[in-house]
Amino acid sequence: MSGASSWQRATQAIAAARPDGAGEPLNAPPIPASAFRAGGAVDYARKASPTASALEHALGLLDGGHAVAFGSGMGAIAATVRSLVPRGGRIVAPWDAYLGTRALLGDLEADGQLTWTRVEQDDTEATLTALGDADVLWIETPTNPLMAIADVPALVAGAGEHGARVVVDATFPTPLRLRPLEHGADVVVHSVTKLIGGHSDLLAGAAIAADPSVAEDLRLRRRLDGAVLEPQSAWLALRGLRTLEVRLDRAEANAMALAGDLAAHPAVTRVRYPGLPSDPGHERHARQAEGPGTMLAFELADAATADRVLGALRLVAHATSLGGVESTIERRGAQPGEDHLPAGLLRLSVGCEAHADLWGDLAGALDAGAEAGPRRPKDAR
Ligand SMILES: Cc1ncc(COP(=O)(O)O)c(C=O)c1O
Repeated sequence: MSGASSWQRATQAIAAARPDGAGEPLNAPPIPASAFRAGGAVDYARKASPTASALEHALGLLDGGHAVAFGSGMGAIAATVRSLVPRGGRIVAPWDAYLGTRALLGDLEADGQLTWTRVEQDDTEATLTALGDADVLWIETPTNPLMAIADVPALVAGAGEHGARVVVDATFPTPLRLRPLEHGADVVVHSVTKLIGGHSDLLAGAAIAADPSVAEDLRLRRRLDGAVLEPQSAWLALRGLRTLEVRLDRAEANAMALAGDLAAHPAVTRVRYPGLPSDPGHERHARQAEGPGTMLAFELADAATADRVLGALRLVAHATSLGGVESTIERRGAQPGEDHLPAGLLRLSVGCEAHADLWGDLAGALDAGAEAGPRRPKDAR
């Protein structure tokens, strides 16, 4: 398989893991097989399979580590937590991490398997103080959906002093915008379902470890739990990866413009987007990441106003999930388990449509939705 490590990441995303022999297809094809003839490199697809291995090869190159593909982002997260936190151990993780991560940690804690110390990860000092003798520091930057930015280099350095391993969920930035292993993190996890897949048509996840023995443990866990990535989704994920850079460029430009549009709209009380110079995480994010990202959150007066806006949209799809070429929006506070969020907060996953159409749709819905509702003064931040 091809993929030179000297190439730029944008090139690797396109060129990595292609068959390179004479007469071979240009793209790694989906190979839907559970069993293989004995004597070869693979024998049973729950251990390893060629299409998922091609995706692992590409993601490993991009993040600079040893990639293990899973059937979903949660598969990667669960395997990583259970591999790195020993029974009775302690994990330090953001109080506002992705809903599924919180549910998993809460479940393991209730079961007596680990202790979860909840932190505001954007408060570096408090996070490091909370570390103590913890086994793992879990970072998610930006957090979903409150967009809190962690100082990855500072946290990694501090965790090293405490002897804690560091895992970064880099689903929002993707390996083309943030590479935590280069900052010294031990494992990076991605929901490949989101931006890497990019078309809202697959479920996949990946954990990429700096240390090959950690990757080996993750592979064993995947095999025992059966959390494998099936070939069709691996193939689609690899196909999505090929256009990740151009999709990111386009969607980030849209997100940057929309963040400004939203901030200036009278119905919007606050915009959270690290690309905005006024955002509290702006400078920190710019120091460690190569782009502002495609995710933003904004707040309206209350849940009723937000729901009216959702109901008035025609182009931006009211749907859960994120990272597709199509823009999607959701009032996350309406999800069970998300009642810590401001009731009027909408999470917007910005896609690749024309900016004028996106803003036309959002502005029209904001005007229609906010008409009947109360207005609050802008948040000074
Ligand atoms: C930041 C983050 N990590 C992990 C996941 C879980 O990924 P999956 O849905 O592929 O299991 C999500 C899903 O929304 C997410 O937003």
